[in-house]
Amino acid sequence: MTDDTTPLSFTVTRREDATSSERIAQVLEDPGFGKTFTDHMVVIDWDGSADGGGWSGARVQPYGPFEIEPAAAVLHYAQEIFEGMKAYRHADGSIWTFRPEANAARFARSATRLALPVLPAATFIESLRQLVTADQEWVPESGGEKALYLRPFMFASEAFLGVRPAQRVTYSVIASPAGAYFPGGLKPVTLWISTDYARAGAGGTGAAKCGGNYASSLAGQIEGAEHGCDQAVFLDSSTHTYIEELGGMNLFFVTRDGTLVTPELTGSILEGVTRSSILQLAKELDLTPEERRIPIQEWKDGAASGEIREIFACGTAAVITPVGELRWAGGSVDHRRDGHRDTYAEAIRARLLDIQYGRAEDTYGWLTRLV
Ligand code: COI
Repeated sequence: MTDDTTPLSFTVTRREDATSSERIAQVLEDPGFGKTFTDHMVVIDWDGSADGGGWSGARVQPYGPFEIEPAAAVLHYAQEIFEGMKAYRHADGSIWTFRPEANAARFARSATRLALPVLPAATFIESLRQLVTADQEWVPESGGEKALYLRPFMFASEAFLGVRPAQRVTYSVIASPAGAYFPGGLKPVTLWISTDYARAGAGGTGAAKCGGNYASSLAGQIEGAEHGCDQAVFLDSSTHTYIEELGGMNLFFVTRDGTLVTPELTGSILEGVTRSSILQLAKELDLTPEERRIPIQEWKDGAASGEIREIFACGTAAVITPVGELRWAGGSVDHRRDGHRDTYAEAIRARLLDIQYGRAEDTYGWLTRLV
Protein backbone atom coordinates (compact mmCIF):
# COMPACT_ATOMS: atom_id res chain seq x y z
CA MET A 1 0.00 0.00 0.00
CA THR A 2 1.11 3.55 -0.54
CA ASP A 3 -0.07 7.03 0.30
CA ASP A 4 -0.25 9.66 -2.39
CA THR A 5 3.18 11.16 -1.79
CA THR A 6 5.48 8.19 -1.16
CA PRO A 7 6.09 6.08 -4.25
CA LEU A 8 6.09 2.31 -4.04
CA SER A 9 9.56 0.79 -4.02
CA PHE A 10 10.58 -1.18 -7.09
CA THR A 11 12.59 -4.35 -7.53
CA VAL A 12 14.78 -4.47 -10.63
CA THR A 13 15.49 -7.64 -12.61
CA ARG A 14 17.80 -6.87 -15.48
CA ARG A 15 17.62 -8.68 -18.77
CA GLU A 16 20.49 -11.14 -19.20
CA ASP A 17 20.63 -10.97 -22.99
CA ALA A 18 20.59 -7.17 -23.08
CA THR A 19 20.69 -5.51 -26.51
CA SER A 20 24.24 -4.66 -27.57
CA SER A 21 25.37 -1.03 -27.69
CA GLU A 22 25.98 -1.44 -31.43
CA ARG A 23 22.40 -2.58 -32.05
CA ILE A 24 20.99 0.24 -29.89
CA ALA A 25 23.06 2.79 -31.84
CA GLN A 26 21.72 1.32 -35.09
CA VAL A 27 18.12 1.64 -33.88
CA LEU A 28 18.68 5.20 -32.64
CA GLU A 29 19.96 6.29 -36.02
CA ASP A 30 16.48 6.08 -37.54
CA PRO A 31 14.00 4.95 -34.89
CA GLY A 32 10.76 5.88 -36.68
CA PHE A 33 7.85 5.68 -34.25
CA GLY A 34 6.74 2.83 -32.00
CA LYS A 35 8.61 0.05 -33.76
CA THR A 36 11.38 -1.01 -31.39
CA PHE A 37 11.10 -1.48 -27.64
CA THR A 38 13.74 -1.19 -24.97
CA ASP A 39 15.09 -4.04 -22.85
CA HIS A 40 12.86 -3.51 -19.84
CA MET A 41 9.32 -2.70 -18.76
CA VAL A 42 7.61 -1.68 -15.54
CA VAL A 43 4.80 -3.77 -14.10
CA ILE A 44 2.66 -3.11 -11.00
CA ASP A 45 -0.29 -5.29 -9.96
CA TRP A 46 -3.52 -4.18 -8.38
CA ASP A 47 -5.89 -6.40 -6.46
CA GLY A 48 -9.12 -4.74 -5.40
CA SER A 49 -10.68 -7.75 -3.69
CA ALA A 50 -11.43 -7.57 0.04
CA ASP A 51 -8.08 -9.11 1.03
CA GLY A 52 -6.22 -7.98 -2.09
CA GLY A 53 -4.15 -5.09 -0.75
CA GLY A 54 -4.37 -2.68 -3.69
CA TRP A 55 -1.12 -1.87 -5.54
CA SER A 56 1.82 -4.24 -5.05
CA GLY A 57 4.77 -5.92 -6.74
CA ALA A 58 6.21 -2.80 -8.37
CA ARG A 59 9.04 -4.02 -10.56
CA VAL A 60 11.29 -3.42 -13.52
CA GLN A 61 11.61 -6.64 -15.49
CA PRO A 62 12.84 -7.71 -18.92
CA TYR A 63 10.54 -6.53 -21.73
CA GLY A 64 8.40 -9.43 -22.89
CA PRO A 65 4.87 -10.78 -23.40
CA PHE A 66 2.27 -10.67 -20.64
CA GLU A 67 0.74 -13.90 -19.57
CA ILE A 68 -2.92 -13.04 -19.89
CA GLU A 69 -5.98 -15.27 -19.72
CA PRO A 70 -8.31 -15.32 -22.74
CA ALA A 71 -11.06 -14.29 -20.30
CA ALA A 72 -9.19 -11.15 -19.16
CA ALA A 73 -11.77 -8.37 -19.03
CA VAL A 74 -9.74 -5.96 -21.18
CA LEU A 75 -10.00 -8.32 -24.16
CA HIS A 76 -13.79 -8.23 -23.98
CA TYR A 77 -14.85 -4.90 -22.52
CA ALA A 78 -11.87 -2.62 -23.35
CA GLN A 79 -11.25 -1.50 -19.78
CA GLU A 80 -7.92 0.14 -20.60
CA ILE A 81 -6.19 3.54 -20.47
CA PHE A 82 -2.79 4.91 -21.48
CA GLU A 83 -0.53 7.94 -21.63
CA GLY A 84 2.04 9.22 -24.12
CA MET A 85 5.18 10.94 -22.83
CA LYS A 86 8.83 11.37 -23.77
CA ALA A 87 12.24 11.30 -22.09
CA TYR A 88 14.64 13.92 -23.50
CA ARG A 89 18.41 13.87 -23.19
CA HIS A 90 20.02 17.23 -22.48
CA ALA A 91 23.47 18.29 -23.67
CA ASP A 92 25.08 17.36 -20.32
CA GLY A 93 23.76 13.79 -20.63
CA SER A 94 20.98 14.17 -18.03
CA ILE A 95 17.51 12.87 -18.94
CA TRP A 96 14.29 14.78 -18.34
CA THR A 97 10.58 14.47 -18.91
CA PHE A 98 7.92 17.08 -19.61
CA ARG A 99 5.06 17.92 -17.22
CA PRO A 100 4.69 14.39 -15.79
CA GLU A 101 2.30 15.68 -13.11
CA ALA A 102 -0.10 16.68 -15.89
CA ASN A 103 0.06 13.18 -17.40
CA ALA A 104 -0.31 11.60 -13.96
CA ALA A 105 -3.39 13.73 -13.29
CA ARG A 106 -4.92 12.89 -16.67
CA PHE A 107 -4.14 9.20 -16.14
CA ALA A 108 -6.03 9.42 -12.84
CA ARG A 109 -9.00 11.10 -14.55
CA SER A 110 -8.98 8.47 -17.29
CA ALA A 111 -8.82 5.72 -14.64
CA THR A 112 -11.84 7.11 -12.84
CA ARG A 113 -13.83 7.33 -16.10
CA LEU A 114 -12.95 3.73 -17.04
CA ALA A 115 -13.61 2.44 -13.50
CA LEU A 116 -9.95 1.51 -13.03
CA PRO A 117 -7.98 2.16 -9.83
CA VAL A 118 -6.07 5.45 -9.52
CA LEU A 119 -2.30 5.03 -9.43
CA PRO A 120 -0.87 7.72 -7.12
CA ALA A 121 1.07 10.38 -9.04
CA ALA A 122 4.25 9.76 -7.04
CA THR A 123 4.32 6.10 -8.11
CA PHE A 124 3.40 7.02 -11.70
CA ILE A 125 6.39 9.39 -11.91
CA GLU A 126 8.67 6.96 -10.08
CA SER A 127 7.74 4.24 -12.58
CA LEU A 128 9.04 6.45 -15.42
CA ARG A 129 12.24 7.15 -13.50
CA GLN A 130 12.79 3.44 -12.85
CA LEU A 131 12.32 2.42 -16.48
CA VAL A 132 14.40 5.25 -17.93
CA THR A 133 17.17 4.54 -15.42
CA ALA A 134 17.25 0.89 -16.47
CA ASP A 135 17.14 1.73 -20.20
CA GLN A 136 19.02 5.03 -20.26
CA GLU A 137 21.27 3.87 -23.07
CA TRP A 138 18.15 3.86 -25.27
CA VAL A 139 17.56 7.61 -24.84
CA PRO A 140 18.83 9.25 -28.06
CA GLU A 141 21.60 11.82 -28.00
CA SER A 142 20.80 15.45 -27.38
CA GLY A 143 20.82 17.86 -30.30
CA GLY A 144 18.23 16.45 -32.63
CA GLU A 145 14.54 15.81 -32.19
CA LYS A 146 14.72 12.19 -31.15
CA ALA A 147 13.52 11.07 -27.74
CA LEU A 148 12.54 7.96 -25.85
CA TYR A 149 8.75 7.66 -26.08
CA LEU A 150 7.20 6.41 -22.84
CA ARG A 151 3.91 4.56 -22.85
CA PRO A 152 2.33 4.04 -19.40
CA PHE A 153 -0.88 1.99 -19.57
CA MET A 154 -3.30 0.10 -17.36
CA PHE A 155 -5.70 -2.70 -18.18
CA ALA A 156 -8.24 -5.04 -16.59
CA SER A 157 -6.42 -8.35 -16.25
CA GLU A 158 -9.03 -10.19 -14.18
CA ALA A 159 -10.42 -13.30 -15.87
CA PHE A 160 -14.13 -12.71 -15.52
CA LEU A 161 -16.86 -12.28 -18.11
CA GLY A 162 -19.40 -10.40 -16.02
CA VAL A 163 -19.65 -6.71 -16.85
CA ARG A 164 -18.36 -4.91 -13.77
CA PRO A 165 -15.12 -3.10 -12.83
CA ALA A 166 -12.28 -5.62 -12.76
CA GLN A 167 -10.82 -6.55 -9.40
CA ARG A 168 -7.44 -7.34 -10.87
CA VAL A 169 -5.64 -4.76 -12.92
CA THR A 170 -2.15 -4.42 -14.40
CA TYR A 171 -0.20 -1.17 -14.75
CA SER A 172 2.80 -1.16 -17.04
CA VAL A 173 5.23 1.18 -18.79
CA ILE A 174 7.09 0.37 -21.97
CA ALA A 175 9.50 2.60 -23.89
CA SER A 176 10.36 3.02 -27.54
CA PRO A 177 12.93 5.30 -29.22
CA ALA A 178 11.14 7.82 -31.40
CA GLY A 179 11.99 10.07 -34.31
CA ALA A 180 9.33 11.78 -36.46
CA TYR A 181 5.78 10.48 -35.88
CA PHE A 182 4.83 11.13 -39.49
CA PRO A 183 7.23 9.62 -42.02
CA GLY A 184 7.01 12.82 -44.10
CA GLY A 185 8.65 14.86 -41.31
CA LEU A 186 7.27 18.43 -41.17
CA LYS A 187 5.33 18.17 -44.41
CA PRO A 188 1.80 19.60 -43.92
CA VAL A 189 -0.82 16.90 -43.47
CA THR A 190 -4.00 16.75 -45.55
CA LEU A 191 -7.16 16.20 -43.51
CA TRP A 192 -10.49 14.56 -44.25
CA ILE A 193 -13.70 15.64 -42.51
CA SER A 194 -15.26 12.53 -41.12
CA THR A 195 -19.02 12.99 -41.26
CA ASP A 196 -20.09 9.36 -41.07
CA TYR A 197 -18.11 8.63 -37.94
CA ALA A 198 -17.67 10.43 -34.63
CA ARG A 199 -14.82 9.70 -32.27
CA ALA A 200 -16.73 10.32 -29.06
CA GLY A 201 -20.11 11.53 -27.85
CA ALA A 202 -21.53 13.58 -24.98
CA GLY A 203 -21.14 11.70 -21.73
CA GLY A 204 -18.83 9.17 -23.38
CA THR A 205 -15.12 8.62 -22.95
CA GLY A 206 -13.79 11.28 -25.34
CA ALA A 207 -11.90 13.15 -22.62
CA ALA A 208 -10.26 9.96 -21.32
CA LYS A 209 -7.14 8.55 -22.92
CA CYS A 210 -8.52 5.07 -23.44
CA GLY A 211 -7.81 2.64 -26.24
CA GLY A 212 -11.46 2.55 -27.32
CA ASN A 213 -11.35 6.17 -28.48
CA TYR A 214 -8.46 5.37 -30.78
CA ALA A 215 -10.16 2.24 -32.07
CA SER A 216 -13.25 4.28 -32.91
CA SER A 217 -11.15 6.80 -34.85
CA LEU A 218 -9.74 4.18 -37.23
CA ALA A 219 -12.75 3.86 -39.56
CA GLY A 220 -12.64 7.64 -40.12
CA GLN A 221 -8.92 7.39 -40.76
CA ILE A 222 -9.47 4.65 -43.35
CA GLU A 223 -12.12 6.77 -45.03
CA GLY A 224 -9.68 9.69 -45.09
CA ALA A 225 -6.94 7.53 -46.59
CA GLU A 226 -9.36 6.41 -49.30
CA HIS A 227 -9.66 10.09 -50.23
CA GLY A 228 -5.91 10.63 -50.23
CA CYS A 229 -5.77 12.22 -46.77
CA ASP A 230 -3.28 11.62 -43.96
CA GLN A 231 -5.70 11.96 -41.04
CA ALA A 232 -9.39 12.58 -40.28
CA VAL A 233 -10.92 15.52 -38.41
CA PHE A 234 -13.76 14.52 -36.11
CA LEU A 235 -16.76 16.73 -35.47
CA ASP A 236 -19.13 16.75 -32.50
CA SER A 237 -21.31 13.66 -32.59
CA SER A 238 -24.69 15.33 -32.01
CA THR A 239 -24.71 18.11 -34.63
CA HIS A 240 -21.71 17.25 -36.86
CA THR A 241 -21.01 20.96 -36.86
CA TYR A 242 -18.16 21.73 -34.48
CA ILE A 243 -14.52 20.73 -34.83
CA GLU A 244 -13.28 18.37 -32.11
CA GLU A 245 -9.86 16.80 -32.77
CA LEU A 246 -7.94 14.44 -35.03
CA GLY A 247 -8.26 11.37 -32.86
CA GLY A 248 -4.60 11.46 -31.81
CA MET A 249 -3.96 15.21 -31.88
CA ASN A 250 -5.55 18.54 -30.95
CA LEU A 251 -6.01 21.33 -33.53
CA PHE A 252 -5.03 25.03 -33.54
CA PHE A 253 -5.86 27.90 -35.91
CA VAL A 254 -3.98 31.21 -36.23
CA THR A 255 -6.22 33.96 -37.55
CA ARG A 256 -5.27 37.13 -39.42
CA ASP A 257 -5.75 39.25 -36.29
CA GLY A 258 -3.29 37.14 -34.25
CA THR A 259 -5.71 34.93 -32.34
CA LEU A 260 -4.67 31.37 -31.59
CA VAL A 261 -7.92 29.42 -31.48
CA THR A 262 -8.47 25.83 -30.39
CA PRO A 263 -11.70 23.88 -29.77
CA GLU A 264 -12.80 24.25 -26.16
CA LEU A 265 -12.89 21.18 -23.94
CA THR A 266 -16.46 20.00 -24.10
CA GLY A 267 -15.96 16.63 -22.45
CA SER A 268 -15.44 14.74 -25.70
CA ILE A 269 -12.00 16.18 -26.58
CA LEU A 270 -8.74 14.99 -25.09
CA GLU A 271 -7.08 17.60 -22.87
CA GLY A 272 -3.67 17.42 -24.49
CA VAL A 273 -0.61 18.34 -22.44
CA THR A 274 0.98 19.83 -25.57
CA ARG A 275 -2.30 21.70 -26.21
CA SER A 276 -2.27 23.28 -22.75
CA SER A 277 1.45 24.17 -23.06
CA ILE A 278 0.85 25.88 -26.42
CA LEU A 279 -1.97 27.95 -24.91
CA GLN A 280 0.53 29.15 -22.31
CA LEU A 281 3.28 29.85 -24.87
CA ALA A 282 0.94 31.86 -27.15
CA LYS A 283 1.50 35.13 -25.32
CA GLU A 284 5.26 34.91 -25.90
CA LEU A 285 4.50 35.14 -29.63
CA ASP A 286 1.97 37.96 -29.25
CA LEU A 287 -0.87 35.59 -30.03
CA THR A 288 -4.11 35.79 -28.08
CA PRO A 289 -5.16 32.31 -27.00
CA GLU A 290 -8.84 31.47 -27.29
CA GLU A 291 -10.73 28.27 -26.51
CA ARG A 292 -14.20 28.09 -28.01
CA ARG A 293 -16.47 26.02 -30.20
CA ILE A 294 -15.37 26.29 -33.83
CA PRO A 295 -17.87 25.43 -36.58
CA ILE A 296 -16.31 23.47 -39.44
CA GLN A 297 -17.86 26.08 -41.75
CA GLU A 298 -15.58 28.69 -40.15
CA TRP A 299 -12.58 26.65 -41.31
CA LYS A 300 -13.94 26.37 -44.86
CA ASP A 301 -14.79 30.09 -45.05
CA GLY A 302 -11.67 31.32 -43.26
CA ALA A 303 -9.35 29.23 -45.41
CA ALA A 304 -11.05 30.50 -48.57
CA SER A 305 -11.04 34.17 -47.50
CA GLY A 306 -7.55 34.27 -45.99
CA GLU A 307 -8.90 34.94 -42.49
CA ILE A 308 -7.10 31.77 -41.34
CA ARG A 309 -3.32 32.14 -41.62
CA GLU A 310 -2.10 28.87 -40.21
CA ILE A 311 -3.45 25.56 -38.98
CA PHE A 312 -1.53 22.98 -37.03
CA ALA A 313 -2.09 19.82 -35.01
CA CYS A 314 -0.26 18.92 -31.81
CA GLY A 315 0.45 15.99 -29.54
CA THR A 316 3.30 14.43 -27.60
CA ALA A 317 4.26 12.03 -30.35
CA ALA A 318 4.16 14.44 -33.31
CA VAL A 319 4.84 17.68 -31.30
CA ILE A 320 3.44 20.13 -33.89
CA THR A 321 2.48 19.27 -37.44
CA PRO A 322 1.29 21.88 -39.95
CA VAL A 323 -2.04 21.18 -41.59
CA GLY A 324 -2.58 21.90 -45.27
CA GLU A 325 -5.61 21.05 -47.35
CA LEU A 326 -9.00 20.10 -45.89
CA ARG A 327 -11.14 17.71 -47.94
CA TRP A 328 -14.71 16.50 -47.61
CA ALA A 329 -17.24 14.67 -49.76
CA GLY A 330 -17.60 17.01 -52.73
CA GLY A 331 -15.09 19.71 -51.88
CA SER A 332 -11.79 20.92 -50.52
CA VAL A 333 -10.14 24.10 -49.33
CA ASP A 334 -6.55 25.15 -48.66
CA HIS A 335 -5.64 28.21 -46.58
CA ARG A 336 -2.11 28.27 -48.01
CA ARG A 337 -1.29 30.76 -50.73
CA ASP A 338 1.89 31.21 -52.80
CA GLY A 339 4.81 31.78 -50.47
CA HIS A 340 2.95 30.39 -47.45
CA ARG A 341 5.05 29.65 -44.40
CA ASP A 342 4.00 28.01 -41.17
CA THR A 343 5.76 30.70 -39.18
CA TYR A 344 3.86 30.33 -35.90
CA ALA A 345 3.79 26.55 -36.01
CA GLU A 346 7.54 26.54 -36.54
CA ALA A 347 8.18 29.10 -33.78
CA ILE A 348 5.99 27.31 -31.22
CA ARG A 349 7.51 23.98 -32.15
CA ALA A 350 11.05 25.33 -31.76
CA ARG A 351 10.17 26.96 -28.42
CA LEU A 352 8.67 23.74 -27.05
CA LEU A 353 11.60 21.61 -28.22
CA ASP A 354 14.13 24.11 -26.83
CA ILE A 355 12.50 23.84 -23.40
CA GLN A 356 12.17 20.05 -23.60
CA TYR A 357 15.82 19.56 -24.63
CA GLY A 358 17.13 22.09 -22.08
CA ARG A 359 18.32 24.55 -24.72
CA ALA A 360 16.11 27.28 -23.25
CA GLU A 361 15.44 28.12 -19.63
CA ASP A 362 12.53 26.16 -18.16
CA THR A 363 10.66 29.30 -17.14
CA TYR A 364 7.36 27.47 -16.65
CA GLY A 365 8.82 24.74 -14.41
CA TRP A 366 7.73 22.06 -16.87
CA LEU A 367 10.70 19.70 -16.66
CA THR A 368 11.36 16.86 -14.21
CA ARG A 369 14.74 15.18 -14.11
CA LEU A 370 14.61 11.38 -14.41
CA VAL A 371 18.31 10.47 -14.59
C1 COI B 1 0.75 10.99 -28.24
O1 COI B 1 0.86 12.02 -28.91
O2 COI B 1 1.60 10.64 -27.40
C2 COI B 1 -0.39 10.12 -28.39
O3 COI B 1 -0.78 9.51 -27.45
C3 COI B 1 -1.01 10.05 -29.73
C4 COI B 1 -0.88 8.72 -30.40
C5 COI B 1 0.51 8.25 -30.66
C6 COI B 1 -1.75 7.69 -29.78
